[in-house]
Amino acid sequence: MRLDLTVTKKQKLFIDAAESEVLFGGAAGGGKSFGQVVDALLFALRYPGSKQLILRRTFAELDKSLIRTSLSLYPKSIFSFNSSTHTGKFKNGSCIDFGYCATENDVYQYQSAEYDCIRFDELTHFTEAQYIYLISRVRGANSFPKQIKSSTNPGGIGHGWVKARFVDTGVANERFIGEDGMTRIFIPSLLDDNAFLMKGDPDYKRRLLALPEREKKALLYGDWNIFEGQYFNEFDAKIHTCHPFEIPREWRKYRTIDYGLDRLVCLWIAVSPDRVAYVYREYCESGLPIGESAKAITERTPPGEDIYATLAPPDLFSRTQETGRTKASIFSEYGVNFTKTSNDRETGWLAIKELLATREGEPRLKIFSFCTELIKCLPQLAIDKLKPSDCMNEPHEITHAPDALRGFAIFWARPAEITPSLKRAIWTRDMWEDYYSASENEKEYLKKKYGEPM
Ligand SMILES: Nc1ncnc2c1ncn2[C@@H]1O[C@H](COP(=O)(O)OP(=O)(O)O)[C@@H](O)[C@H]1O
Ligand SMILES: [Mg+2]
Repeated sequence: MRLDLTVTKKQKLFIDAAESEVLFGGAAGGGKSFGQVVDALLFALRYPGSKQLILRRTFAELDKSLIRTSLSLYPKSIFSFNSSTHTGKFKNGSCIDFGYCATENDVYQYQSAEYDCIRFDELTHFTEAQYIYLISRVRGANSFPKQIKSSTNPGGIGHGWVKARFVDTGVANERFIGEDGMTRIFIPSLLDDNAFLMKGDPDYKRRLLALPEREKKALLYGDWNIFEGQYFNEFDAKIHTCHPFEIPREWRKYRTIDYGLDRLVCLWIAVSPDRVAYVYREYCESGLPIGESAKAITERTPPGEDIYATLAPPDLFSRTQETGRTKASIFSEYGVNFTKTSNDRETGWLAIKELLATREGEPRLKIFSFCTELIKCLPQLAIDKLKPSDCMNEPHEITHAPDALRGFAIFWARPAEITPSLKRAIWTRDMWEDYYSASENEKEYLKKKYGEPM
C-alpha cells in the first residue's frame, strides 16, 4: 500500500515530537487538525494493536472536522469506521476512538478506558479539570509510547491554563520539563506554514485580515497574548522581552518590591542612557517573613552592583498596631532601606502603559526573558469592569509582580511640576493611605495632586 501524503515542516515537527505532552498551537488554517489526523494514522500503523482517543469538545465539531478528514484520508483497505460507536479499526489491530466532552461529567465515559495516546483538537475549548482527568487515562502495560498530543487556536475558555501550561513556561519548539516532571513542547503554528491552504484558497488570509483586532490576533497571527478584557493589551512578548545581557556598571539601577507574607516580589531594573528600563532580575517567594525577605533581596544583589534606590509602596511605612513599628523600619534593620512610592493605582498603571508604548517600534520597558513571573502576570491582568481605568485584584496571585513594577513606573514617571487642583475631591482608600503615611511636605504635594479631600 502506498499513501500519497505530503506534510508541512511544522506538521513533521508535531508528528516527530516524542514529549509526553505536545501542543501544536496557533493560527487557524496552519494545518493543526490535519496534522493530528495524519499523526494518528502513522501511530496506528507503527504500533499494531495501539489504542488512541481523538477528542473535540462537541460531537458536531468532531463529526464535521476530524471524522470527516480521517474518512477521506485513511485507506479503506486498512481502516473501517463504525459510525454508531465512533470507533475506527485498523487491520493491524490498532484502533482510534473519536470522542467528545460537552459537559464536565462527560469525562466519566472514559473512566475504565486505557489509551496509548490521547489527542485533543481545539484544546482551549476544554477545561483544565477535563484535561487532567482525561490524561490519567493514558496508561498501559505495553511498550508503545504514552503521549498526549493537542492542537488548538488561542482564545477559547481554556486559553489561560493552556497558555500557562505550554506557552509561557518554555521556549517554542524546545523540550522542557514541567513542575510535575512531564516533558512538554509547544510548537507554534502559523498560517504561512500551510502552503496547501495558501495556494488552494489565496483569499483566506484576506478574510482573516478583516476580523476584529482580537480575533485577528488569535486566528491570523496565532498570538497567545490576547484575552477578553486584558488590561495591558499593548503587551507583546516579542517587543517587551529580550535576551539577557550584562548591564553596564554605570546604568542607574533600582529595586522595587511588593511585600506581603503571601508573596514577596522584588524586581531589579536598570535604566539605559536612552531611558529604556530593563527588568534584569526578579525574585518571587511566598511565606517569607521580613528578615528573610531582606536577606533574599540582599543576597541576590551582587556586591559592587550599586542600587540607586529600593522602592516600596506606602503601606510598608504605616505603623502596625501590634508593634507600633513600620515594616519599612524592620527591613531597614536588616539593611534594606526603602524609598516610598505612591499607591495611586490609576496613575501607576498608566505609567506602565507609557513605558510599554512603542515609539518607532521601540518600547521604554524591556524584560529579560528569564523574569518569567512578570512576563506571565502582566498580560493576564484584567480590566475592572466597575472601574475600567483600574485592573482587577483577582486572581490575587498574579497581581504581585505587576504591583512591584507599578511602584517603579510611578516613581519614574512622576512629573516634576504638579498643576494645583482647585476643586475638592472625593478621595479613594488608596489616596487616604498615601496621605496618612506621608510626611508633611508630601501631604501638601498630595493635596495639590488629588484636590482638597472631602
Ligand atoms: N499536509 C497537507 N496536505 C494537504 N492539505 C493540507 C495539509 N495540511 C493542511 N491541509 C489543508 O489545509 C486546510 C487547513 O488545515 P487544518 O488542519 O484544518 O488547519 P487548522 O486545524 O490549523 O485550522 C484544510 O483544508 C486541510 O485539509
Ligand atoms: Mg483545526
